[in-house]
Amino acid sequence: MELFSWKNDYSVKVGSIDSDHQKLFDIINSLFTAMSKGEGRQVISGLVKELQSYTIYHFNREETFFRVTSYPNAANHLEQHKIFVSKVKEYKEKVDKGNNDFSPEMLTYLKDWLLNHILVTDKAYSDHFTKNGIV
Ligand SMILES: [Fe+2]
Repeated sequence: MELFSWKNDYSVKVGSIDSDHQKLFDIINSLFTAMSKGEGRQVISGLVKELQSYTIYHFNREETFFRVTSYPNAANHLEQHKIFVSKVKEYKEKVDKGNNDFSPEMLTYLKDWLLNHILVTDKAYSDHFTKNGIV
């Protein structure tokens, strides 16, 4: 069972970014599965850590493309990345402390943020990247 699944409508027309996004979907779906199965803190913490490092890796890719193409809306976009990175960090710390296990609300936040970010903020760079040869 999946929390959400990738659709072609989510494409930003850049192969490497689309596959990063699919990987992020996979990790969040794995978190959902782990929670549904009632997995312990170790498993959840491992998955949140994976989400944390993959998110940073992926944001770096986008941010590099912003620099090399002089993307005009980079500042606002970077601000959104910063908010998400600190949210994931906060979740990781909560899970590791064990006093507030990973909750369905956290899962909903991750899913909603990612979907909305792709559909609104990421899609906004699609034409700019394509015009600048990023495919
Ligand atoms: Fe982004």
